[in-house]
Amino acid sequence: MEKKKVLVVGGGGRCHAIVDALSRSEKVGKIYCAPGNAGIAVQAECVPLKDTQVNELKDFALAHGIDLTVVGPEVSLAAGIVDVFDAAGLRIFGPTKAAALIESSKDFAKQLMAECNVPTAAFRTFDDYAHAYEYVREGSFPVVLKYDGLAAGKGVVIAENMTQAELALKDMLLDDKFGKGRVVVEEFLTGPEFSFMCFVDGDKVWPMTVSQDHKRAYEGDKGPNTGGMGAYSPVPIITDEDIEYSMEKIMKPVAAGMVAKGRPFKGVLYGGLMKTPAGVKVIEFNCRFGDPETEVVLPRLESDIYDIFSAVVDGTPMPEIRWSAKAAIGFVLASKGYPGSYKKGFVIDGLAEAEALGDIRIYHMGTAEKDGKFVTSGGRVLMVVGFGDDLKSAHAHALKAVNCIGCDNLFYRKDIGWRVL
Ligand code: AMP
Ligand code: GLY
Repeated sequence: MEKKKVLVVGGGGRCHAIVDALSRSEKVGKIYCAPGNAGIAVQAECVPLKDTQVNELKDFALAHGIDLTVVGPEVSLAAGIVDVFDAAGLRIFGPTKAAALIESSKDFAKQLMAECNVPTAAFRTFDDYAHAYEYVREGSFPVVLKYDGLAAGKGVVIAENMTQAELALKDMLLDDKFGKGRVVVEEFLTGPEFSFMCFVDGDKVWPMTVSQDHKRAYEGDKGPNTGGMGAYSPVPIITDEDIEYSMEKIMKPVAAGMVAKGRPFKGVLYGGLMKTPAGVKVIEFNCRFGDPETEVVLPRLESDIYDIFSAVVDGTPMPEIRWSAKAAIGFVLASKGYPGSYKKGFVIDGLAEAEALGDIRIYHMGTAEKDGKFVTSGGRVLMVVGFGDDLKSAHAHALKAVNCIGCDNLFYRKDIGWRVL
């Protein structure tokens, strides 16, 4: 059988992990990645197109006889890449723009959960400052304020008091810091968070193994929120009953709800869930693979990912989805200053030594190539993933790999996995 040509859209660690998983498929031959990065270029041919150039990407896929396109970032999905590819008769893995609304509008997601009786924080949505201010002033603290649109993870504020709330409401509703939009005011929940990603085709839902992200920049879960500083999988504090409950009471009803609303979902539905004292509740939904969760989940996948993508895209039977018993834990090496401003262009040494330890994968998040060397080119630079028989040994092993890497401008959190180690 002729091997398949695949295009992966995106350029961070998540896409590197997708490319890596595809490269393990016996069905897949050539892999392209747009735009990719210097690390991805080792495993795929990088194409100089941005993830939002959806028409150019469609033309590329047609011209190169691409059999399947897999989309990483939400911006491409919200820009309607799936609709454009569908109209051109191209096979693509991801939700349509209409279905991607589950991530791009917090208010839509909250309404849907209310209609489907899915457990989530109580909420109200406001489009004017005065009413939001009054409502928050009369409620209790902390309170959660969420901008109703894509804000690269920066549109959520947990306000401890009225002064903080006032500032956030002004930013979101008076000064339009993230653009013109509404604000969802939410009840504050407590408990460990976990990421539950599922393959979804309409009302059919197949779970992936569970993972946990670490959003704060510094050790002890201190400092500003980031895109994620590390992750691990599996998550021992999440029981089989929690997963069963999350499938039956959250993921399946929401998938069915999307069909009922005429927005059937195809792709990865990501549940950002919290195990609260009152049971598992939804914090947010994403319409794509999580980053950096994908970097610890996909390397544990033992089944052929091309077959899984095909089953979702074509509506054909899903093969068995098997996971390795090995635990995975990954450290993000980020540029000093991230998530604020940072410098680029620092040489990275020692990657080959780190990988030579064995049972290590290094996914490139933001690197470039200069004079035959890898250099830093983003806020998050590398995700160093170690594997072991349990999380403790995976943690020690990954740290050993991190210590092989030399670069003058990187920092990381040593305490990834603290909840379970
Ligand atoms: P989101 O972008 O909705 O995932 O929110 C970002 C982060 O804010 C989450 O990962 C949580 O840590 C926190 N957060 C969001 N909503 C709530 C909530 N209702 N209660 C407590 N923490 C929350
Ligand atoms: N790690 C959180 C996200 O992908 O949104």
